[in-house]
Amino acid sequence: MTDNKFDVIIIGGGPGGYVCAIRAAQLGLKVACVEKRGALGGTCLNVGCIPSKALLESSHQYENAQHNFAEQGIEVSGLKVNFGKMMERKNKVVKQLTGGIEMLFKKNKITYIKGAGEIISTNKVKVGNDEYSAKKIVIATGSDVAHLPGIEIDEEVIVSSTGALELKEIPKKMVVIGAGVIGLELGSVYRRLGAEVTAIEFLDRITPGMDNGLTKDFQKSLEKQGIKFKLGTKVTGAEKTKSGVKLTMEAAKGGNSETMEADVVLVCVGRKAYTENLGLDKVGVKTTERGLVETNANWQTNVPNIYAIGDVIKGPMLAHKAEEEGVAVAEVLAGQHGHVNYNAIPGVIYTHPEVASVGKTEEELKEAGIEYNVGKFSFMANGRALANGDAEGYAKILADKKTDEVLGIHIIGPHAGDLIAECTMAIEFGASSEDIARTCHAHPTISEVVKEAALAVEKRALHS
Ligand code: FAD
Ligand code: NAI
Repeated sequence: MTDNKFDVIIIGGGPGGYVCAIRAAQLGLKVACVEKRGALGGTCLNVGCIPSKALLESSHQYENAQHNFAEQGIEVSGLKVNFGKMMERKNKVVKQLTGGIEMLFKKNKITYIKGAGEIISTNKVKVGNDEYSAKKIVIATGSDVAHLPGIEIDEEVIVSSTGALELKEIPKKMVVIGAGVIGLELGSVYRRLGAEVTAIEFLDRITPGMDNGLTKDFQKSLEKQGIKFKLGTKVTGAEKTKSGVKLTMEAAKGGNSETMEADVVLVCVGRKAYTENLGLDKVGVKTTERGLVETNANWQTNVPNIYAIGDVIKGPMLAHKAEEEGVAVAEVLAGQHGHVNYNAIPGVIYTHPEVASVGKTEEELKEAGIEYNVGKFSFMANGRALANGDAEGYAKILADKKTDEVLGIHIIGPHAGDLIAECTMAIEFGASSEDIARTCHAHPTISEVVKEAALAVEKRALHS
């Protein structure tokens, strides 16, 4: 029989949980991680970040071959999509990565307990018929799809992101409900593969929370690619028909209802904390009105030896945020001072162009009454972007008017998701725009856009 006493039991093997397990083991703690889905890696590796990025990459390659190769003198004929094969590749990538985490668990001597964990007392977790005890418990159970009242997801024609990653064929007409991150990423995948995609959004803008000016340019770019938007619109029902789905909707502010037909409807109106059958009531762990597990600045719940991290607590539902918290909480449990700088958590949307940001938006700075300078530089003036034939977008740096400290960076354009790493480091180190401007960036690289945007803060960009 396996030993059933641990220093830490982590419930949930997603980016929050598995990273916490590895860090805690590195620090010498005896660790177990309970996961019920049959594979490690959580939402992110199994039905989130990784499969969606695999399909985004495949569909982007197809789009390039269709529309951008000819300009570079590459002629292709007989181009077609083998959707089955594309899905197979995606599944292979997922399997490779989730298997890799099992290997990491073995390497770090972490006990992987397969099954659903229930907290039965402040230091005991039950999995099936077995009970395990631990000095500390970490809840890392993540999130699940938020549903819309009256719309039943069958994962075939009315799908969540999970079903959208497993479609059997490319729909002719797809409606996404919610023009947020999932809607735009997976909407882009199927638009590139030939579907007519309409995004219906309750608010009068897409991607709420993102820098407003950039959002407008982002929407224009997606419209140019063929995605249609119906903003300020509320979906009130979805009825399955012989040929697909009939949606009923009305203006968000009220008004006449209208209908729309689609082969597939993707419901992506956010995600909610997942704490089902976890036993929180039994041990008295407090949750918020929205169902998130409440924690203090050390990720500790109101029950002193129970902690929580990742999507199940407040903050952006992002894999890297969960990972940072996983590391920090492991360090706290080992008696160290784990820390997460929530102002330096980047957000990326992996469409084309990519969108990435870190720090404050212009709206947030205005609301806080902070005066700032703006430096903006276009990819059109970047040699490498032009040489690559991929020069849409710009980088925008917001720096404190008095101190020049970088407060926010927002990028729309090629490789924005990679460029934001340098920007996040700038914010983490409290850099000024001058610091970025005086840092040598290799030529010709896309990264020079960030340097030039920093120079533009003091109106001294060299190439515009
Ligand atoms: P999860 O990854 O949800 O892991 C929690 C795990 O706990 C799950 O595997 C679940 O099975 C398990 N579990 C739950 N209850 C129990 C229990 N009682 N016992 C045992 N196990 C349990 N984020 C990004 O940063 N970048 C992206 O590109 C990105 N793309 C995404 C695309 C999609 C389609 C989706 C849906 C999400 C995406 N996300 C992305 C968000 C990202 O997946 C999450 O923020 C991240 O997975 C959260 O990590 P977590 O460890 O908190 O929870
Ligand atoms: P989201 O919060 O990004 O977007 C949901 C959208 O739906 C919002 O624009 C919202 O206004 C809209 N909405 C809500 N109710 C509606 C209604 N009744 N009718 C029409 N629109 C409505 O949530 P999404 O896209 O579901 O993603 C869930 C989470 O997954 C996000 O928090 C995100 O952080 C994470 N994710 C991250 C990715 C990344 O980092 N690249 C990729 C995909 C998901």
